[in-house]
Amino acid sequence: MVGSGHLGANGTVEPLPEDFDASAVIKEPVPPTVAESENVKRAIVLGKNVHTLCLEVTEPDADDEITGERDAYMASVLSKYKKSLTERTKHHLGYPYNLDFDYGALSQLQHFSINNLGDPFIESNYGVHSRQFEVGVLDWFARLWEIEKDEYWGYMTNCGTEGNLHGILVGREVLPDGILYASQESHYSVFKAARMYRMDCVKIATLHTGEIDCNDFKAKLLLHKDKPAIVNVNIGTTVKGAVDDLDLVIKTLEDTGFSRDKFYIHCDGALFGLMMPFVKLAPKVSFKKPIGSVSVSGHKFVGCPMPCGVQITRLEHINVLSNNVEYLASRDATIMGSRNGHAPIFLWYTLNRKGYRGFQKEVQKCLRNAHYFKDRLREAGVGAMLNELSSTVVFERPHDEEFVRKWQLACQGNIAHVVVMPNVTKGKLDDFLNELVEKRAQWFKDDKFQQYCIASEVGETCCLCPLHKGK
Ligand SMILES: Cc1ncc(COP(=O)(O)O)c(C=O)c1O
Repeated sequence: MVGSGHLGANGTVEPLPEDFDASAVIKEPVPPTVAESENVKRAIVLGKNVHTLCLEVTEPDADDEITGERDAYMASVLSKYKKSLTERTKHHLGYPYNLDFDYGALSQLQHFSINNLGDPFIESNYGVHSRQFEVGVLDWFARLWEIEKDEYWGYMTNCGTEGNLHGILVGREVLPDGILYASQESHYSVFKAARMYRMDCVKIATLHTGEIDCNDFKAKLLLHKDKPAIVNVNIGTTVKGAVDDLDLVIKTLEDTGFSRDKFYIHCDGALFGLMMPFVKLAPKVSFKKPIGSVSVSGHKFVGCPMPCGVQITRLEHINVLSNNVEYLASRDATIMGSRNGHAPIFLWYTLNRKGYRGFQKEVQKCLRNAHYFKDRLREAGVGAMLNELSSTVVFERPHDEEFVRKWQLACQGNIAHVVVMPNVTKGKLDDFLNELVEKRAQWFKDDKFQQYCIASEVGETCCLCPLHKGK
């Protein structure tokens, strides 16, 4: 057998065969191309098939290094790509990403493979890390969500989804036979967690606003009083930007007889986790309340060139989840292995520049612009809804997919939404609206299309279809 280190029957290491040459190379390392079968075409049901647009990776010619042709080709591809990114960034309204940032000062760090694998609070053997930045960022969020430095544990995740996967996992480890409760408008990652962890999951109805319906929550809790409750609370739902009433959720649990050792609450603050603390009327997300964890996406309101997130939980919970890993000289309490070490530096940079006060101003601006946009839509005869604590404006789905694609709107059923982030100015909203009004004149001309009724999605008062207009 070729291979080093194989133990013989008596425990001795078998010597390598004499003809073994570790430096021998395979003569032709380029594998044959895989022909696409004529009969079996790739079936893609949703969206566009990216395979038709893909930039093939081609094998360099032997003399490419001398002619420089390859470098020139790659430079031209990248330059075209940059142009298209600039264009796509200009016309982006549908996803909750703040695209306005300048991290030029950090470009000097691109040459380093920064990896925070393992626990943020325990230095591993790998020295090219950014834990000092990561813990600084975590402390900032811990202060925002009111938990002492020596009482929390957290880490920077790859995204809000990972925060949900972690928060729900901690809940499951603390209450192993708990049932997961989540409103039907929760992000799909919550239901993904239930599937991954094979947890029983109960979906709770929502109000028209998208907020969890605590009457239904109570009724469902009463059906399963013998099992602990692990509850996902939305600090901003994906489609309608609804903020669940955390205080009412806690009261419902307590009124139904669930003592504090019988429930665990994870707050999914992916969207508005960083906005709500600055809105006076919003239910406060705070570890002074009986919650177990909070997560937020870093690339959304903060703005960051790569997806990332923050997850904070109570230190007391994390010991049930973690193992020591000798190979890392660290503890493994995270979901992933390798962790992006650049992302903490990006967040640290913005948090330092803006501070709590800077974020507060941006939140106010977004809420103001969102109200402006909702009012203008309605003046133009477009049915629209805006939750009081939200900057997600929901309105009638446009009838033209080209228009939807241009503005990168997220649509569901008869509704679409625009999420007003700090980079979305009144000017951009006006441009969008003017184009929408023009298009609508074409769509509805000669009754080509009918105006959508969105009453079942957002309630009759927000719908301006012929049936509900004026009601
Ligand atoms: C409410 C909510 N939770 C979780 C997520 C997932 O966040 P991410 O895209 O960062 O994984 C989203 C994404 O939009 C969201 O809206």
